[in-house]
Amino acid sequence: MHARVIELQKYFTEALLAEPAQGRPDELYAPMNYILSLGGKRLRPVMVLLGTELFDGNLEAALPAAKAVEWFHNFTLVHDDIMDEAPLRRGKPAVHEKWNRNIAILSGDAMLVKCYDFLLGLRPDVLASVTRLFNTTAVEVCEGQQLDMNFESRSDVTVDEYLHMIEYKTSVFLAAALEMGAIIAGADQSDAGNLYEFGRNIGIAFQLQDDLLDVYGDQEKVGKQVGGDILSDKKTFLWLTAEEQATAEQRNQLHALIGVNGKDLEKVKTVRGIYDELNIPTQVRAKMDSFYDIGLQHLDDVRVSAEKKIPLMQLAESLMQREH
Ligand code: IPE
Ligand code: IPE
Ligand code: MG
Ligand code: MG
Ligand code: MG
Repeated sequence: MHARVIELQKYFTEALLAEPAQGRPDELYAPMNYILSLGGKRLRPVMVLLGTELFDGNLEAALPAAKAVEWFHNFTLVHDDIMDEAPLRRGKPAVHEKWNRNIAILSGDAMLVKCYDFLLGLRPDVLASVTRLFNTTAVEVCEGQQLDMNFESRSDVTVDEYLHMIEYKTSVFLAAALEMGAIIAGADQSDAGNLYEFGRNIGIAFQLQDDLLDVYGDQEKVGKQVGGDILSDKKTFLWLTAEEQATAEQRNQLHALIGVNGKDLEKVKTVRGIYDELNIPTQVRAKMDSFYDIGLQHLDDVRVSAEKKIPLMQLAESLMQREH
């Protein structure tokens, strides 16, 4: 990883943790500090800061947006883990497991509100445009998330529908983080737009990788329950590709497992076995590469020196190799 990315991660995390949530009752605030302190890659805030630095903007001016996006991201994870019935997050019990569902819902709601407090700290000349982008994107994330849930109980999801779903639930938020940084630094619309497109394409590759790690990752490293997507019948690129290329027998096996008890680990083994037979991981990698390449072309089109783009390029590259 590029040294500047690591520096920014550290700079951001210090600023984030210096301002813990405070108040009563404890059941509302403790989960916020719990989830925010569990770590994570801090990818989105670092993208805000890198977007700002790319256009020689001021890092401190970007901090409110960086904090807002990390709080928003953590809010989505708290609610996502309820919706996905996921027991583990970043190697520790998910908030709804450590406390309970109601606490996870309400604490998450309050985290979302807190994002707006952070955004109010932006410079007046960028406050409206950054908040507008934040709002548009936040609703898109909810659209993607609802599609993800709808797809669990459907067996006719297409790859195009899947790509639209992950674009919304995941990639537009990475794209918007970069664009917020660009806006704060005063970049023009065409550069900000290309940076957004870079983030959107890298973000699609990022979610494909997340889906791959969900099946093939090392649980210790990933920090999430491996096989969770299979257990909850997620229509991932892996599943859709396998379904499409399966022999009649494999297809019957896959279909017979839909809706089967979510705790059955045999289900994970069977589905993963079919993925192996069909070389699904290689095909996911190829799909990731194609989005990665499109993303890089957009970064190339941003009108700043190639040298200034190095940290972003290395970040994108390391995301493609990540194991967590
Ligand atoms: C997890 O995001 C949710 C997805 C959109 C795939 P990250 O992989 O960025 O999670 P942390 O913040 O590093 O834990
Ligand atoms: C999460 O997608 C996307 C959002 C949180 C909006 P996933 O459900 O795949 O994320 P993980 O794998 O639980 O982190
Ligand atoms: Mg999830
Ligand atoms: Mg989910
Ligand atoms: Mg996932």
